[in-house]
Amino acid sequence: MKDFDGLKAVVTGGASGIGLAAARLLAERGARVAVLDLDADGVPEPLRGHRADVSDDASVTAAVSDAAGALRGIDVLVNNAGIGAVGTVEDNDDAEWHRVLDVNLLGIVRTTRAALRHLRRSAHPAIVNTCSVAATAGLPQRALYSATKGAVLSLTLAMAADHVREGIRVNCVNPGTADTPWIGRLLDRAADPAAERAALDARQPMGRLVTADEVAAAIAYLASPAAASVTGTALAVDGGMQGLRLRAPEPGR
Ligand SMILES: NC(=O)c1ccc[n+]([C@@H]2O[C@H](COP(=O)([O-])OP(=O)(O)OC[C@H]3O[C@@H](n4cnc5c(N)ncnc54)[C@H](O)[C@@H]3O)[C@@H](O)[C@H]2O)c1
Repeated sequence: MKDFDGLKAVVTGGASGIGLAAARLLAERGARVAVLDLDADGVPEPLRGHRADVSDDASVTAAVSDAAGALRGIDVLVNNAGIGAVGTVEDNDDAEWHRVLDVNLLGIVRTTRAALRHLRRSAHPAIVNTCSVAATAGLPQRALYSATKGAVLSLTLAMAADHVREGIRVNCVNPGTADTPWIGRLLDRAADPAAERAALDARQPMGRLVTADEVAAAIAYLASPAAASVTGTALAVDGGMQGLRLRAPEPGR
């Protein structure tokens, strides 16, 4: 018997990186899993791919309805789709602020709104949002991105309060910098990718990036019936980036 046997999960942004790792892990642990993504064609079996743009309400409503029909219900919703933004508060215009908020924040609103009627029929309903260490630590050159993730953290808490009495748990994971295609694209654009990678590694107390599988394991925990008393929690998977304050290494050590 696996812990997700009989459960059905929807993962947004599940065609790549953290979302793909989470979708695969939930499937390995017994869930039937549908992935909603802009590009869902190459999603590996046994995952089901559904094309959806979380910034478009009609697209989300149709894909959630299709996924719920194919899976015969939804017990777990992983709101993971997200995009990046670089710069200080001066660097992005209003259109870019609206675009990134539309995906990272309103994408969660739309998908959750469409999935709630299915979650209400589940015996083990759970929502897990992919937030970020950027919600809790001030990172340079991430004003817009951090603002979206700060909003995701607050939304997670508010949703957890709204739905606790109907038995729906809502939590989020806060990854540190994770080794996914997203970071690969960021490094490709850097003037010196090796130096940028070394700087990202060094920013994490563990001295290395987080893996997508490590974040997926936290998502699966929060989504699982084993976490039945866990709601309104932000679980950091960040190599110690948020919680630790280290002294500089002593010379020769
Ligand atoms: N990689 C990191 O360092 C890191 C750190 C903290 C948090 N996160 C968060 O983790 C989540 C996943 O990031 P990742 O690193 O796996 O990125 P990724 O780029 O590898 O995967 C993101 C997926 O989301 C999909 N997507 C993007 N916009 C979409 C839209 N409008 N509608 C539907 N799907 C869409 C993409 O097609 C892609 O498959 C994001 O929410 C991100 O903010 C990432």
